[in-house]
Amino acid sequence: MEADLNIQEVNAMPRIGDNAPDFEAVTTTGKIKFSEFAIDKWVIMFSHPADFTPVCTTELTGFAKRKGEFDALNTQLLGLSIDSIHSHLGWVQNVRENTGVYFDFPIIADIDMKVAKLYGMLQPNESETAAVRAVFFIDPKKKIRLVMYYPLNVGRNMNEILRSLEALQISDKHKVAMPLDWKKGDKVIVGPPKTLDELNARLADDSVEKVDWYLAMKNI
Ligand code: BEZ
Repeated sequence: MEADLNIQEVNAMPRIGDNAPDFEAVTTTGKIKFSEFAIDKWVIMFSHPADFTPVCTTELTGFAKRKGEFDALNTQLLGLSIDSIHSHLGWVQNVRENTGVYFDFPIIADIDMKVAKLYGMLQPNESETAAVRAVFFIDPKKKIRLVMYYPLNVGRNMNEILRSLEALQISDKHKVAMPLDWKKGDKVIVGPPKTLDELNARLADDSVEKVDWYLAMKNI
């Protein structure tokens, strides 16, 4: 019941650019302290509403099947739901028996909702007992770089999660920005000039493809 929830706690919602809040938790692969977890890696931390439910089963199956692509992007997966560790283990084993897909990444058993509240995953007007479908993109400095929240009744898009992760990494590496619908191999946006000297340099620069001085693209 909402009356039982501490509204200040529930309203905590880490934002882009914030340091990822630290926590300790029990997971399906053992205990973790987040600040010491996946050192030097990106982390995709995602919540699902409940074990043994259909949409969640398709989503975690998607993460498991494409784990190799996350590994290739130096990224650790970390799941979470407000379920017990026994429930998680039973579900993982059930899906493995039924489909052969094995959720071998850690899944937090957040039975006291501590982490869900810390990360704004508990959104009481959607559900007071189940986490919404959140995805936090956390960089190797443990900074939050992108946040997605989906409701209980709509599954996420794995292509978009991977596309966004790759976009963040390439943007960091090349100091560029990504246009609408960018995907790997497409041109990227070079930042607009910030001074008149930079403006003049941009106008004279034939190495970038210019729509105008403030919108220029290049291949990387
Ligand atoms: C599902 O994963 O199917 C689901 C979970 C909680 C509420 C609604 C749907």
